[in-house]
Amino acid sequence: MTVTQSLTKHLKNPELFVDLAGVPNAQEATKRFSVFNPSTGELLAELPDMDAADVSKAIDKADAAQELWAALTARERSDMLWEWHQLILIHSEDLAAILTAEMGKPLAEAKSEIAHAAAYLQWYAEEANRIYGETISPPSNDRRMLVIKQPIGVVGAITPWNFPASMVARKISPALAAGCAIVLKPAEQTPLVAGAMFTLARMAGFPDGVLNLIYASQGDAVGRELCSNPKVRKISFTGSTEVGRLLMRQCSDQIKRTSFELGGNAPFIVFDDADVDAAVEGAIQAKFRNAGQTCVSANRLYVQSSVYDEFAKKFTERVRALRVGDGFVPDVAIGPLIDTCALAKIEDHVGDAVRKGGKIRCGGSRIGKSGTFFEPTVITEVERTMRVAQEETFGPLAPLIRFNDPDQVVREANDTIYGLAAYFYASNLKRVWRVAEALEYGMVGINTGRMSSEAAPFGGMKQSGIGREGSRHGLEDYLEMKYLCMGGL
Ligand code: SIN
Repeated sequence: MTVTQSLTKHLKNPELFVDLAGVPNAQEATKRFSVFNPSTGELLAELPDMDAADVSKAIDKADAAQELWAALTARERSDMLWEWHQLILIHSEDLAAILTAEMGKPLAEAKSEIAHAAAYLQWYAEEANRIYGETISPPSNDRRMLVIKQPIGVVGAITPWNFPASMVARKISPALAAGCAIVLKPAEQTPLVAGAMFTLARMAGFPDGVLNLIYASQGDAVGRELCSNPKVRKISFTGSTEVGRLLMRQCSDQIKRTSFELGGNAPFIVFDDADVDAAVEGAIQAKFRNAGQTCVSANRLYVQSSVYDEFAKKFTERVRALRVGDGFVPDVAIGPLIDTCALAKIEDHVGDAVRKGGKIRCGGSRIGKSGTFFEPTVITEVERTMRVAQEETFGPLAPLIRFNDPDQVVREANDTIYGLAAYFYASNLKRVWRVAEALEYGMVGINTGRMSSEAAPFGGMKQSGIGREGSRHGLEDYLEMKYLCMGGL
């Protein structure tokens, strides 16, 4: 396993992360795969490319550790999570630098993501101590009835490239708190920060086999093994709806438990009673954070006719000022897209919108001949028939759709297979409640463009997923409920 100088030059403690040692099975892999910096194209690391047989060995290790881990007291598990959280905070600058190098996001956003990852560990270090059962009043006096909660067992977790640190923490920390051992496969584009987090987990004292990391370039082979191996009791996945469907089919033979956080097509609605300046700031957050590469990115911006022109003007001015470039350069707000496919998709969406009558107010093109940078773009006069209004763009492109009828816009916002996140800006309380209740989404941001928090249940309705991550609900997803009935009393 080689980490190059292109990565270590950004680190304060390169010796700690040069080996990314949290991967015991990795030594056996014969093939290698490369990880590149999407901003510069530099090689960052060569990693062992583990295959299905390596995954199976990692699952065996997790299975062997499961009983011991579940048998620890909640306090013991909590202490280790707490220690891991502390180490992540101590090394947060290096973790953020690794994240920016492999994913491209601006360093300030990477630092905020590491803080968010640490917050999940802290939250579940606390929550581990609050797993409660219940007693039930029995229908007859000769019996007692109660419910206890127990860990589900070994969890297979698959995390995406867009939040390579916080998604690891969001899945792993509730699983560990509940008493589940883990096999994690991070995205092949961004495995390094996960490796660094696992290095710190070893320092925090987690027993061997409780945390297992899979470095692999072939996600499908790993996914198949995780879904078909009977020792894995649950799959937790964040990624596209298409891959979610495939994993669900693979899990169905064993009726495996699943937690899926999948695609979105988030509406962002500005009503005529909104504070327009606040809505502009919220839209910048909701659309351009992580260059628009988040599952909860505002994808369709609906603005009521009477405030449309004002919103479009102010919003375009703000978007024009967003600086694009290498995430390590100060003041850069928009990094590269993850790869050339992402670039091609956004170009297709722009081309289709322009052909059908959309007007480019700023941006609209890739930057430079090589690389994957795209100008932050605003298109007005967008119609719902355009691809940009139908499909998740996953890039820095904001389409503005004009509307007149407030009831119709909610129906239109709901007219999608997705139901992850929605946002709206309004001040009339009656409208706020009506719209919040009518939107068919797992998360609704009201007068805010950002809502992700370790304290809140993150997840979607419809084809955007199953289950919730974060909050006390996130812990329940890793626990089995067992009903005990004592008779003959
Ligand atoms: C995601 O895109 O899946 C996560 C976004 C967030 O945590 O805000």
